[in-house]
Amino acid sequence: MDRTLFNMLCKKIENVSGFRVYGFYESNLHTILNRIAEKRLSSIDDIIEESLKNTNLLEDIIESLVINETFFYRHENQFRAIEDVIIPEIAKNFNNIKIWSAGCSTGCEPYTIAIIIDKKYPHLKDRITIIGTDIDRDALAVAEKGEFSKWHIRNLDSNILNTYFDKKDNVYHIKENIKKMVTFKRHNILHDPFFPNCHLILCRNVLIYFSQKNIAHILKRFINDSLVDNGYLFLAPGEFTLLNQSGYTPLNIQDTFVYKKTGDITDITYKKPKPVINFKKVKKDINALLLSNRKDDALNYLHNISVESSHELKDSKLEELMIHIDSEDTYNLEKKLNEFKYSLKDDEYFFLAGMYYYLKQDYRNALDNFRKAAMLKDDYVYYFYQALSLKALGDLENARVFFTLALKFLNINSTFEPLANKEAIKKIILNHINFKLS
Ligand SMILES: C[S@@+](CC[C@H](N)C(=O)[O-])C[C@H]1O[C@@H](n2cnc3c(N)ncnc32)[C@H](O)[C@@H]1O
Repeated sequence: MDRTLFNMLCKKIENVSGFRVYGFYESNLHTILNRIAEKRLSSIDDIIEESLKNTNLLEDIIESLVINETFFYRHENQFRAIEDVIIPEIAKNFNNIKIWSAGCSTGCEPYTIAIIIDKKYPHLKDRITIIGTDIDRDALAVAEKGEFSKWHIRNLDSNILNTYFDKKDNVYHIKENIKKMVTFKRHNILHDPFFPNCHLILCRNVLIYFSQKNIAHILKRFINDSLVDNGYLFLAPGEFTLLNQSGYTPLNIQDTFVYKKTGDITDITYKKPKPVINFKKVKKDINALLLSNRKDDALNYLHNISVESSHELKDSKLEELMIHIDSEDTYNLEKKLNEFKYSLKDDEYFFLAGMYYYLKQDYRNALDNFRKAAMLKDDYVYYFYQALSLKALGDLENARVFFTLALKFLNINSTFEPLANKEAIKKIILNHINFKLS
């Protein structure tokens, strides 16, 4: 295969759809090209050349490449926030309500909202429009049919399942009344006109595949072309590091974050990322894999990189532990923590042990370990997690004190959040401090 041609195709895919192929999606693209070439009895290079000229072929390739993972009630806290706070808040202030699920894949996300409305706010049905959009025609066809597999409904309780789905031959058909509440459209978020006057936008697990420059462009367009004043945007949890933009205020609701369009928009500028050392790229790649629920790929990726110094070896161990934390795998976290114990600094060890207890919801032991870590280093993350543990234990007053300490040490480099955007974190901590907890 001609590498220059392949790179040209990657660039073209990114220009058309925003999807960045570079790195670990290259092998997926290669497999797709190979499949097409075999089917057409042609060579990969011929297929690439044709796709550079033929829009239909290029679109087929893009649609095979994008990641369609989705399921009902994904990131449940966010839907709880939508149900308990956002919908009533919007309904109080606006007559007609428009909700846009951008990058909705097979439709589980907009249908979850339709279910919430039917269940809790049936009187609002006539005032609400829900639009689901995606670049991928196959995904939209599934959405329009409303036919789902066991995988899509894995997070649903039996009550919702029985009320809103009919099961035939292991396929779950969403009920007609819910289907009618959502309109699906093909839409490319990078180039097509945006939907105006939206009160709530969900764009979750879509922008993680895009460059910082395109992310900045899209977030700016949500503000300028789409959201009403005080409208809300949900990204996926963990994507808050994407939001180094002005114009949005993060709010903490039901232990999740939603971004509210604030009245005044200062200019949103794209800051060119600083050149990064290799290991930071590794971390970024791993983050992207974890965000698309590919833990095993993340571990494989990590185990396959060749570390060159003891420093890098240590970083890779820390990263491995973070992967287990991210996927809440306490069994392997404990195992690896014991294995790596003597490679770690004491504060790192105490913090990770604290995370182990935190994930097990043993907040007293978690607090004890976070405290020990903070005694050794003023890392804001150690204070932040002490605050979260105190909050979980119901000690709200002291939680605020520790959120304040986290804020104080925000400027000191953290071992555990080097990629996070400090401004975004600052807003989040401030939000915790100012949040009315009772
Ligand atoms: C991982 S799914 C996310 C689905 C859903 N939002 C969720 O969180 O469950 C990402 C979706 O983004 C879509 N997508 C990727 N690039 C897009 C673009 N340029 N315009 C619109 N949708 C896009 C993909 O087709 C895919 O269905």
